[in-house]
Amino acid sequence: MMLWILLALTVLPDSTCVACHASLREVYELSVHTPAGVTCITCHGGQTGVLETREAHRGMRRLTREATLKLCADCHTRPELMGPYHLRVDMLRYWKASAHGRAWEKGDPRAPICTDCHSSHAVRPPRDPGSPVARENQPTTCMRCHDTPEVKNYLRSRHYQALMEGRVRAPSCATCHQDHGAVRPRGAAPLALCGHCHVRERELLAASPHGDSRSLATMNACAGCHEVHGKEMRREPEALCPQCHQEPEIQAEGRWWTREIQREEAAWVAFEEELDRAEGAGVEVIPLRTRLKVRDALLAQAYAAVHTLSRDSLQRILARSQALRHDLEEALRELETHRAERKLFVGVFWFFVLVTAGVARLRIRALQKGRERDAS
Ligand code: HEC
Ligand code: HEC
Ligand code: HEC
Ligand code: HEC
Ligand code: HEC
Ligand code: HEC
Ligand code: HEC
Ligand code: HEC
Ligand code: HEC
Repeated sequence: MMLWILLALTVLPDSTCVACHASLREVYELSVHTPAGVTCITCHGGQTGVLETREAHRGMRRLTREATLKLCADCHTRPELMGPYHLRVDMLRYWKASAHGRAWEKGDPRAPICTDCHSSHAVRPPRDPGSPVARENQPTTCMRCHDTPEVKNYLRSRHYQALMEGRVRAPSCATCHQDHGAVRPRGAAPLALCGHCHVRERELLAASPHGDSRSLATMNACAGCHEVHGKEMRREPEALCPQCHQEPEIQAEGRWWTREIQREEAAWVAFEEELDRAEGAGVEVIPLRTRLKVRDALLAQAYAAVHTLSRDSLQRILARSQALRHDLEEALRELETHRAERKLFVGVFWFFVLVTAGVARLRIRALQKGRERDAS
């Protein structure tokens, strides 16, 4: 212990604090602040080189939440301090204008300040997997306060799944809500937000009857039709269109889309069952299965075409999907006929082999009998 203190004293500034606060040694080992010279005394005050509690704490300031906010912000808004580290200096400004800053202003005790999201001691850059605001950790950090069932649904979404698969483009909380802005993307905003990654859907929607700025704004663009945190981010058009349209002809339009896509999907399910059956019977279907990738791409196009609200574009895609299926059905039938013919050929072949062998045996037996007779 003495040895460690001596060693620490020679290596680290204000390390006498850690001699007593041993559990905070991680600050020295982990925090991005330590190598930058931001240490215990920078934030807390107090005396270094002293191993007596009262004396060591002399001149220490109390870090209330107000004082903490000021402490972090005082450094992080100064360009001359942050410039060398290529760090932004805008967080306080965005935070103050955000729902978080406004809640703070109103005295809401739940309003988050810097340390609620970044911690106070093990402060890490956001790209570090150990940071509480790393993309994978944002759900845990934000849901400490935002734990409504709607938001928690995110953990069951395709987006979260993609995040857990390590996909670079998977959105986490701050992707959609900004890091310090706590924005709620409404009006036309989701068009640009979601469309940043879903480019095809954005383009098709923008060119559709929903694409003018007034309609986008009244319907919250993508968020009007998709549950943004939901597991089932897709909803059946049948239930979807009546949400905003009383007109029977538009509701009928929604039913038409659902029916057409579902019918095509069902036809593919039936074809895959045929494939399974043929495979079970020994037909070599792998080349056919590989071509199902084209089917997947066409069905994805069909989903995307929903955004056009143009029957023509869907019908063109479905026609290509049907043509592909007919091709594959034909190919499967050929493989099956081929296999049946081979089976027949093999049967006939063995029949002849067996018959020839039987006849030969009889001939040999007859010859042997003849020789025995000659001998006697
Ligand atoms: C000789 C041991 C010792 C040293 C050296 C020491 N502390 Fe402490 N510190 C304690 C103890 C014991 C407590 C808990 C009792 C108390 O609150 O006084 C404490 C409490 C604290 C607290 C919490 C105070 C509160 O009101 O909750 C802070 C902050 C703190 N120390 C910071 C420091 C810093 C910064 C240094 C170095 C400049 C330092 N300490 C050096 C022993 C020490
Ligand atoms: C970047 C600023 C910063 C640095 C550096 C820092 N602290 Fe703190 N510390 C805080 C803030 C802010 C709080 C109060 C808020 C909280 O509890 O999270 C705090 C709380 C504490 C507390 C009381 C609560 C607790 O977590 O136990 C102790 C003790 C403490 N610090 C000791 C230290 C010691 C010892 C060091 C150096 C090894 C250190 N701090 C370095 C900002 C800092
Ligand atoms: C005395 C000035 C100072 C204070 C006070 C301070 N910081 Fe820092 N902070 C820095 C410097 C300098 C860096 C850059 C370190 C580096 O990148 O190597 C930094 C880095 C960071 C980073 C990592 C940024 C990145 O992307 O690399 C975060 C997060 C951070 N600070 C949060 C805080 C929080 C939260 C507080 C308040 C508890 C705080 N800072 C208090 C100076 C300070
Ligand atoms: C509601 C949570 C939250 C609060 C409050 C918050 N931050 Fe952040 N902070 C984040 C997130 C999320 C990121 C970015 C993560 C990313 O880049 O993916 C971030 C990034 C940062 C960075 C790195 C910026 C860079 O250029 O790389 C710093 C520094 C920082 N915050 C400091 C602060 C300071 C200082 C405060 C208080 C004024 C604060 N933050 C308040 C969540 C928060
Ligand atoms: C310490 C608690 C806390 C943490 C942590 C926190 N928030 Fe908040 N958040 C609040 C409070 C309080 C409000 C304002 C009151 C309200 O509308 O609920 C708020 C409001 C919001 C809003 C605006 C909601 C609206 O109706 O306009 C969004 C969006 C939001 N937070 C996102 C986030 C994200 C993203 C994170 C993580 C990076 C996060 N919050 C972390 C407490 C927190
Ligand atoms: C794909 C983008 C996206 C992701 C990821 C996302 N959100 Fe949202 N979130 C939105 C949109 C869009 C809205 C606005 C919906 C509306 O107002 O109809 C919203 C609304 C909110 C609201 C305010 C309304 C409410 O339901 O309380 C909060 C709080 C919130 N999100 C928190 C979070 C948190 C926390 C996470 C991470 C666990 C998260 N969001 C992940 C897009 C997203
Ligand atoms: C940062 C990029 C990004 C943003 C922003 C984004 N998404 Fe996604 N989205 C993805 C990824 C990645 C997937 C997973 C796709 C996959 O599995 O191929 C996905 C999947 C989806 C799916 C399911 C598709 C499927 O194949 O099941 C829907 C629906 C969706 N996103 C809607 C939205 C909406 C609505 C928004 C805006 C509120 C949004 N996305 C914002 C990247 C993003
Ligand atoms: C008018 C309602 C509506 C709007 C607005 C809308 N969508 Fe869709 N979206 C749908 C429907 C309906 C489907 C097909 C869902 C189904 O049948 O499974 C779909 C499908 C998708 C899919 C594919 C899902 C899958 O399972 O493959 C993605 C991704 C998607 N939408 C993203 C977006 C994005 C991004 C926006 C905004 C640019 C947006 N949508 C706007 C109704 C809408
Ligand atoms: C979130 C609300 C919302 C949903 C859901 C929605 N729409 Fe719309 N739709 C609008 C708005 C707003 C307009 C702009 C014209 C208006 O005010 O009626 C519009 C316009 C249209 C138009 C042009 C109408 C005209 O009179 O020129 C058609 C067609 C249409 N929608 C079809 C659909 C279909 C089909 C669905 C289901 C797949 C659907 N919409 C789902 C909000 C919605």
